[in-house]
Amino acid sequence: MRRIAIVGVLCFGAALAADNLKGLRGPSPLNEEPKAPRMATVENFDVKRGRAYTSQPPTIPHAIDRYEITRNVNFCMYCHSRVRNEEFGAPMVSATHFMDRDANFLAEISPRRYFCTQCHVVQTDARPPVSNTFTDVYELVEREQRASDPPAPAAKDKKE
Ligand code: HEC
Ligand code: HEC
Repeated sequence: MRRIAIVGVLCFGAALAADNLKGLRGPSPLNEEPKAPRMATVENFDVKRGRAYTSQPPTIPHAIDRYEITRNVNFCMYCHSRVRNEEFGAPMVSATHFMDRDANFLAEISPRRYFCTQCHVVQTDARPPVSNTFTDVYELVEREQRASDPPAPAAKDKKE
């Protein structure tokens, strides 16, 4: 009898799990191939996006499909290097990109920063497949300050 109860609970659990399987693949059943979503379009408008936190690598405001990064060539540095950035109106890679792991500054881009797309990504019109509740630290600090501020004086006190 107990075994039947356990099996019952397991089946019920499985049914629930199947119902909640609306992850990245969408609501289609596991044994069916869902329709592939449209591929996102890379934005090429030269419009920078804000950064969500201080150490976020900025997203790339231009297309990069023809910019090669191989052992011999780093085409990104053609415009983003110290000596050429002015000519292209491109921001120079920051000083951190010249540092080795002991924080010494090198003359050339550091091997740790060579593969730009390891950290920097293009901007696309893709919609996030899952939502998130990320809150900017600035908003958190503001909230904390508002909570610890003394209550605002009542309207009649203000007039005096
Ligand atoms: C032909 C020149 C050129 C090349 C090559 C190039 N960029 Fe850029 N990049 C620019 C310019 C100019 C900007 C300034 C914004 C704009 O006009 O798009 C920029 C902006 C950026 C920014 C934004 C910086 C910020 O402060 O927000 C990042 C990140 C970036 N590029 C990364 C890359 C990476 C990674 C590559 C290689 C895959 C690359 N770029 C190749 C010219 C270039
Ligand atoms: C290991 C991660 C990493 C790699 C690899 C990397 N970056 Fe960055 N990049 C960052 C971060 C983090 C920032 C923002 C903080 C900073 O400047 O260090 C940044 C900032 C930048 C900026 C903005 C500089 C400024 O002063 O506004 C540019 C432009 C840039 N990177 C281009 C590049 C290019 C081009 C490459 C490849 C040669 C590259 N990055 C490789 C992490 C990386």
